[in-house]
Amino acid sequence: MAVTGDFSGIDPGRPSAARVYDAMLDGSSNFEVDRALARQMLAAEPRARRWAYANRAFLRRAVGFLLDEGVRQFVDLGSGLPTVGNVHEIVHGYRLDGRVVYVDVDPIAVAHSRLLLAGDERAGVVCADIRDVDAILADPVTRRLVDLDEPVAFLAVAVLHFIAQNPGPMLTGFRSVAAPGSYLAVSHLTTPGDLSADAAEVVADYNARTATPLTFRGRAEVAGLFDGWQLLAPGVVPVDEWWPEPGDLEELEAHGRVPIWAGLGRLGPAV
Ligand SMILES: C[S@@+](CC[C@H](N)C(=O)[O-])C[C@H]1O[C@@H](n2cnc3c(N)ncnc32)[C@H](O)[C@@H]1O
Repeated sequence: MAVTGDFSGIDPGRPSAARVYDAMLDGSSNFEVDRALARQMLAAEPRARRWAYANRAFLRRAVGFLLDEGVRQFVDLGSGLPTVGNVHEIVHGYRLDGRVVYVDVDPIAVAHSRLLLAGDERAGVVCADIRDVDAILADPVTRRLVDLDEPVAFLAVAVLHFIAQNPGPMLTGFRSVAAPGSYLAVSHLTTPGDLSADAAEVVADYNARTATPLTFRGRAEVAGLFDGWQLLAPGVVPVDEWWPEPGDLEELEAHGRVPIWAGLGRLGPAV
């Protein structure tokens, strides 16, 4: 089946966050401009591919934790191109009645997700900017799949660093409609202490050419994104130190720290 959609606004000469990340994760839904940028980044900073995989592993562990906590509905903000371990696959592997809404602003990511989810009654895709909270909540896909009277998990994984202005108000928008027992998961790039000049140049080049430039934030700023949520243990930590599994721990020892902060917040009293 072919990927269809309105691609009229896409400039194949301009790298996109979704497609560069897909190239980093060894995916095939990307253009040469994205692969070239991923190659440049990996040449300047070979650890970047491992960082992308570590982020993806956090997403998997966080969703697993939320499923164990009884969460049945997930809104994946900035969901990206479908790749190994998509949220709906994890959710449906655990609970057949779990529901997932994917949200992304990238038309190619949205088209691929729609194709993958064709005929799936328990998952859907919204094409929107995650800053447009009202549009996402009012979208028929969200309304069909998410019952806001029940707890919902908002996943903002590796997306808020593509938002230059303070993402706080947007997150408050989602929090204000969420039932007690809802969750917010965040992972967010920070400046690696030892980022080489070459890697900094690749980031600057990406920022100059893309519609979704990167904004690095420090630990305190990322912790501030959980304003109004009860930040759960272990707090805001490097992504690979967030409840690592045995295999992840070996990785942790073998490589240095991943410059991505991660945390999980819960709304309402502690259980
Ligand atoms: C690095 S990918 C992360 C994908 C997935 N969340 C993960 O962690 O594996 C970031 C995604 O966020 C999307 N994105 C960036 N800014 C966005 C915005 N303002 N609204 C919606 N999606 C956005 C990009 O199109 C891209 O697909």
